[in-house]
Amino acid sequence: MDYAANIAQLRAQIEQHNHRYYVLDDPSIPDAEYDKLFRALQALEAQHPELVTIDSPTQRVGGAPLKAFAEVHHRTAMLSLNNAFSEEEVRAFDTRIREALDVTEVEYAVEPKFDGLAVTLSYRDGVFVQGATRGDGSVGEEVTENLRTVQSIPLRLTEAIHDVEIRGEVLMFKRDFAKLNEAQRAKGEKEFVNPRNAAAGALRQLDARITASRRLSFFAYGMGICEGVVLPGQHHLQMDLLRQWGVAVTRQRRVVRGVEGLLAYYREIGTQRAALPFDIDGVVYKVNDTLLQQQLGFVSRAPRFAIAHKFPAEEATTTLLDIEVQVGRTGALTPVARLAPVFVGGVTVTNATLHNEDEIRRKDLRIGDTVVVRRAGDVIPEVARVVLERRPADAREFIMPPVCPVCGSQVAKLPDEAVWRCTGGLYCPAQRKQALLHFASRRAMNIDGLGDKLVEQLVDAHIVKTPADLYKLGLLAMINLDRMGEKSAVNLLAGIEKSKHTTLARFIFALGIRNVGETTAKDLAQHFGSLDNLLAADLERLQQVRDVGPVVAQSMADFLAQAHNREVIAQLRVAGVQWAEHDRQVATTLPLAGQTFVLTGTLATLSRDEAKEKLEALGAKVSGSVSKKTNYVVAGAEAGSKLDKAQELGVTVLDEQQFLALLEKEGA
Ligand code: IVH
Repeated sequence: MDYAANIAQLRAQIEQHNHRYYVLDDPSIPDAEYDKLFRALQALEAQHPELVTIDSPTQRVGGAPLKAFAEVHHRTAMLSLNNAFSEEEVRAFDTRIREALDVTEVEYAVEPKFDGLAVTLSYRDGVFVQGATRGDGSVGEEVTENLRTVQSIPLRLTEAIHDVEIRGEVLMFKRDFAKLNEAQRAKGEKEFVNPRNAAAGALRQLDARITASRRLSFFAYGMGICEGVVLPGQHHLQMDLLRQWGVAVTRQRRVVRGVEGLLAYYREIGTQRAALPFDIDGVVYKVNDTLLQQQLGFVSRAPRFAIAHKFPAEEATTTLLDIEVQVGRTGALTPVARLAPVFVGGVTVTNATLHNEDEIRRKDLRIGDTVVVRRAGDVIPEVARVVLERRPADAREFIMPPVCPVCGSQVAKLPDEAVWRCTGGLYCPAQRKQALLHFASRRAMNIDGLGDKLVEQLVDAHIVKTPADLYKLGLLAMINLDRMGEKSAVNLLAGIEKSKHTTLARFIFALGIRNVGETTAKDLAQHFGSLDNLLAADLERLQQVRDVGPVVAQSMADFLAQAHNREVIAQLRVAGVQWAEHDRQVATTLPLAGQTFVLTGTLATLSRDEAKEKLEALGAKVSGSVSKKTNYVVAGAEAGSKLDKAQELGVTVLDEQQFLALLEKEGA
């Protein structure tokens, strides 16, 4: 292997990315990938120290200053941090420190790693006189006027310290970033990729008025020179002092002991990360005692006493192998990206929804493209953008199939919709499968044991076509299915049998009519009281139902107009699916009509959903919050603030016994 050539190639690549990132503010690859290149170069140079040159990107920290800003020679170098990406690397860091100091346990100051830009602020006799970016660590750019616009940077400290350099990070809060991009969109201008890039753009404006309009923030994390005051001997006390001087310091910092303390902090901040008002890309651990810090010293341009423990990258690049089309319950055709497996946000991602055709056009995705995949926190992975520079010559445009990929029916798009739909309805096996799964789902008919694998087999083997067929299933047909033991078959049959006793609202919801969700189903059930009344309703009558508008009424009417839908309903009733009916057309005649209930705490004999269902069947409304209009509050064990509120407002409170007695009296 030709190491020298390899090293040269890596350096050239890194330099190019540095230029795009630091000078042009327009990165073409995610940080994680840049980090990978950088670490590869570091590793090669470590193996071959004789090949290290002073101009290697590993020997400096950032990029070249923009020519339009004055240069600032930092009086004390602005250092970088070494990174740890795993628990092992953190343990190794702690071991190194303990061995170097010959101690059994170390106290650390721990802080978030802000994902912004490092700056240094110089104060003379307490007055802010100069601010600069880090640049390459020794020479940065003077951005004093721009930094003056940052509200969290004090123009005067609360104490007239003779000469102090305060180091910290300039960043943009998530909410300010969202506002900025909204404004960019409104002006038809290019949106920023992330808050850090937006902050970099704002900080490098030659016109400070533009910086001011973009609302930057600042947090301090250290000091350079400090003359005119005796500093405390611990990092966290120095940060407390800065806070006293009026400088912004994060509240998320702590002091911990030993490596377990470090790792616990890492996990704690990890769970808070999404909720923090600003982006962080890890946490930083620093030996707290400043004398020990000095004793440990520096390697190259990073301190030995500190390390950054990075979170798994939230963005990574991979190849868009193909775009497949999935058909959902309502026939919606959803393009799905098939991706070369990539580790991002802590999981391996192989596919991601692309939502609809317009979305693919908007992002300009082609099959074969290199794409940036994003997964932040527990959020579903998404294809964030394409890396145009890497588009191969043979990249293919995606074409929506003119017929359903599952059943071959025509696809159609309503003029005001973004999605194409298969027109096959329940003829389409994909829609049939989804419809059956929906029918059986917990909040619909609640059939235990009917999962997607089973539905797949039942539909593919033509055993089940409509929900009514489920109630015709026999033991024999089921035992012949793959991976179906006698016991599970018996259990499933019991589940199907049990589901026959249901409510009208659940039954309507289970039919999977477009635009008829759980709440609408309840409204319909309550309004019509019986299925026959509902089946007889025309468009006008449907529109009289509370909260039912023209769109829902039309969906319902379309559904009822199909003879095969009525046939399935008839078969379900013949099979024994049943519920208690109140054969009254108008809900106001139900015993609890017009009464509002609020449920709080835990009931011993009923789940919250069951209690709600029973009340609604009697015509009552169940609300989530107590007000003067509430008629009853039902308080179970450990009832909370809603009970207090009820007492405060003088609302009648029922305990479980009284509640059950009421239900019984009203015939539930
Ligand atoms: S301390 C002596 N603390 O990370 C060590 N740096 O990768 C100097 N950063 O240039 C840095 N949050 O821009 C420190 N709590 C924190 C930090 C932090 C973010 C940045 C800083 C630094 C870079 C090094």
